[in-house]
Amino acid sequence: MNSELLKNKIVHINEILENRLPLGDEFGRICEAMRYSVLNGGKRLRAIMLLESFRIYSDDKALEKKIVEPFVTAIECIHGYSLVHDDLPAMDNDVLRRGKPTTHVAFGHAMGVLAGDALLNYAFETVSEIAEDAEKADADLALKVLKAFRVLAVKPGYSGMIGGQVLDTTVKYEPGVVISGYDELNAYGRRIEDPAKLKFVLRVYELKTSRLFETALMCGAILGGAGKEDTALLEEAGRALGLAFQIEDDILDLTSDAATLGKSVNIDEKNDKDTVARILGIDTATELVKMYTEKAVDSLKKLNRNTEFLQDLFESLVFRKL
Ligand code: IPE
Ligand code: IPE
Ligand code: MG
Ligand code: MG
Ligand code: MG
Repeated sequence: MNSELLKNKIVHINEILENRLPLGDEFGRICEAMRYSVLNGGKRLRAIMLLESFRIYSDDKALEKKIVEPFVTAIECIHGYSLVHDDLPAMDNDVLRRGKPTTHVAFGHAMGVLAGDALLNYAFETVSEIAEDAEKADADLALKVLKAFRVLAVKPGYSGMIGGQVLDTTVKYEPGVVISGYDELNAYGRRIEDPAKLKFVLRVYELKTSRLFETALMCGAILGGAGKEDTALLEEAGRALGLAFQIEDDILDLTSDAATLGKSVNIDEKNDKDTVARILGIDTATELVKMYTEKAVDSLKKLNRNTEFLQDLFESLVFRKL
């Protein structure tokens, strides 16, 4: 991965967010909490993936500014809200995020809930701005925006990311629960002691983490003009990448330290979470990270377009430090 290139992309995303997040006199307090939650670092992966998947299909900079930047803002608002709520005492009960006190620690519990709510709403406020000059847009463009809007609404919702957070926080695996799919694990069949439990945990990851990566890659592609087949391949890539990403997040929870990670470590054990790394051990978990990353890269390759940057980005996440 060209780290200078990645750094520049992060700076660009941060500028977009800085300009687009609200500042308000009367509503200054909530705006301050929203900005604190979003503008406090972060790898900006989902935003970069959205922008780059658009660029696979379009080099129209004016269009990028007009319709992609609101979606970039929206996805970081949704991601940011999910973290603010994830850290609440009723969920993971975490006090450190991106190297700083979590929003509810800095602003109080009620503001943690409200800042999360406001960010979720703001995601749709910002995207709906596009409608202001919709009369001038051609029907084809309006349809693309509407399609991407629907992905942005559904995948992070009750049957997607939130559904995953529900399982993660309120349901513990019980023997006998059957989850179908995950045939790709067959290659690892001999070494996995309790495949049913592993599949349950992967299902949670697919919902809580992959759905947002899928949202990013699909929204960008749809706005850029990708057809159904390519959009489905990017959905596949997002699914596999999300699984790899979350398994690596579990590994870092066990192997890193708070200063490097910017968030608490060993919190999964503290919260008695079944994670892939805790079930299989670091070595096998690392193999699964590599396997799912490869799967995600293969889906990108099938597009037969220039996806070099995204491929490098995906691969760079395997041994990331935070
Ligand atoms: C954290 O996501 C939540 C998980 C899905 C593990 P990131 O690791 O992308 O968080 P930031 O945005 O870089 O802080
Ligand atoms: C969170 O997973 C996924 C979300 C949808 C927020 P984690 O609970 O493992 O994320 P971190 O470790 O707090 O970032
Ligand atoms: Mg959590
Ligand atoms: Mg957490
Ligand atoms: Mg974690």
